[in-house]
Parts: sequence; C-alpha cells; structure tokens
Amino acid sequence: MNSDKLDPNPATPFLEPPEGSDATHPEPGGLFAETPPDLEWLAQLKGRSILSAREFDSRSVCELSKLAAILEKIEIAPYHPLDGKIAVTAFFEASTRTRISFESAVLRLDGKVISIPDGTVTGQAKGESLQDIGEMFNAYCDLVIMRHTDTDSPERILENLRVPLINAGNGSGEHPTQALADWYALLKWRPELAAPRSGTAPKLHLGILGTPGSMRAVKSFLLMALLFKDHIARVTVISEMADPFGEDVTKDLAEAGIDYCVSNDVREFLPQLDVIYMNSIAFLGDSYRTLDSRYKLDSSSPLKPEAVILHPLARLDELDTSLDKTPHNLYFSQAHGAVFVRQALLMAVLDRLDRLPGV
Ligand code: CP
Repeated sequence: MNSDKLDPNPATPFLEPPEGSDATHPEPGGLFAETPPDLEWLAQLKGRSILSAREFDSRSVCELSKLAAILEKIEIAPYHPLDGKIAVTAFFEASTRTRISFESAVLRLDGKVISIPDGTVTGQAKGESLQDIGEMFNAYCDLVIMRHTDTDSPERILENLRVPLINAGNGSGEHPTQALADWYALLKWRPELAAPRSGTAPKLHLGILGTPGSMRAVKSFLLMALLFKDHIARVTVISEMADPFGEDVTKDLAEAGIDYCVSNDVREFLPQLDVIYMNSIAFLGDSYRTLDSRYKLDSSSPLKPEAVILHPLARLDELDTSLDKTPHNLYFSQAHGAVFVRQALLMAVLDRLDRLPGV
C-alpha cells in the first residue's frame, strides 16, 4: 500500500467525537503514521470463519487495527469495497451495538445486509434446526454474522454452512470481534502496544472487574490480552467467584506464563490499575444474570489519573454515567471504533483489501 496517499490528519475526520463530550477519543492516525497495515498479512484471513479470540495472533490484531484506523480517517464508501457482497446478520439474541455496528460497517463499505434482528422471525420459531438454517444461508449470502444464546451454536450452523461465519457472541462462550474492538481502542490509546516493547517502557497493570469464565466479552478480551503479554505487568481479576476463569482459560493463562491474581476486594487494587475492563451482565444457562455487580465505579472512585475504563456495554449501574465526561472513558471510543475494526475484518475475510485507496 502506498501510505503517501493517506493523510493521517485530514481536516475533516470521518467520525467526530460526540458533541460536548470530554470522553477519551484517541487519535487513530498514530496507529498507521509510521507503518501502514500489512495487507499481505491480512490476506491470510480471506474466507476464514472467526469463532474465537484464540484464532488471532498479535500481528493480525495490530494489522487489523492499523487498517481500521485508516478506515476511521478516510471516507471509504466511494471505493465500494463490498459491492456485490451480501452479509446476513442472524441475531437469535438481543443486541444494540454488535448487530448495528456490523450492519453499519457493511453498508458503509457499500455491501448489502439481510438483517435478522430476532430469531422468532426465522424457522427457529417452528423448530427448524440451525444446521438447516445454515444450509439455506449458503444460497442467500456471502458471509454470516451470528449471535445466539447457545454456546455450541457456531458448531451447529457450521455443520452445513460453507460461507464464512463470524461469531458475534455465543452464550457464555466468546465474542471475538468485541475483543478486536477492545484492543483497537487500547492500541489507539497507546500505539506503542502495537510494536515490540522497548526495554524501559512501562508495562500495564490490567484489571478485570468481572468473571471471564461466564462473560463472553470478558473472556475474549482476556484471551486477546495474552497476545500482548510483553506489555502487561500483571492481570488482576476482581470477581465474586472463587474461580472466575473456568478450566480452559486457566490453561491459557498458565501457557502464557502471565502474572495474574484474583481478588474480591476492589479497594485494594483500583488505585494501581492502568486499564480496567468491566462488565456485569452474563448469559448463564438460559437467561441474563448480573454477576459482580457490587463492583461499581463512579467519578469519585480512586482511579489513577491516567487510567482508562473499557466496558463492552450494555451497562447497568456498575459503570456510573458520572464517568462519561472524564478522561477515564475509553468505552465510548471502544464502541464507536467497533465499526471500523469490523470493516477491516470484513474486507479481509471477503477478499476486498485491494479496494483500499493507494493499494
Ligand atoms: N458489546 C455488545 O456485545 O453489545 P450488544 O449486546 O449491544 O451487541
């Protein structure tokens, strides 16, 4: 790609920070100012299904984030990256951000969307299997983005689905593109995380207020964090559960050799944390429950002055709105940036990276 053709600081950014907000909206240009995205590396994602954060390496996350940063800065629609492509957004479980940001991403890339906002409008309401729904989707679209309450739903639809599947949340399983949005926000906030750590650079203390074993967004965030372990001094999980990870994540932590601890006392650790990832809504069994809701943050919480908060949202009262207009708020940038990192992923999976201007 010829990066000379892209101005990292155009006069009119594609996405303006919310009017009147003091929220932290890091500048995307810092991510690609020195090195443009390696599109040949990203071409490996062509035709791939994305089911888990485990499928990424740190380089893929960084290259996708660099491409996302360009997409956030330019107007891509005139280049029609997804013309002729149809995505089905099949949401068998409620969503505000994921479905709409994916649909926005496809539409801004000049692709088309068939939107299923609710499983009751499909044959599922009559008892149709996901396997049969998958067989039908092969004829109707080029890519499926699915959310479902069942953890094994991706496996079931993939028995017959032959177009790429993006897992947009499967029960208490995973939410890999949420993790991409999380790390895109963090990489914009600290672009040096996208490069090998220099010997003297400070490492981050990451805090998780939540239960990775039961909260899919928290789990995918943590799995992706392991890819950046050289930049992380420690992970502290603050949870009301004695074993908040579950067996498979415990194995991932052990294999990564990362320094981590578990506590149920938020007061002990909060003043030490550089990044706080929080959530309280978990899909457990057959319904939404709140976990860890006793850990609440507001603008009077004893945070480090430069600490940032991430939250996949929706929030309940664990994340007080008094934080929205403070520099701790990275969660709006995280939600807004999801459109662009999803665009980057869609262009890679659907083999349209060559539509980026300057290529
Ligand atoms: N972050 C997230 O998954 O939000 P939605 O449930 O609104 O899609």
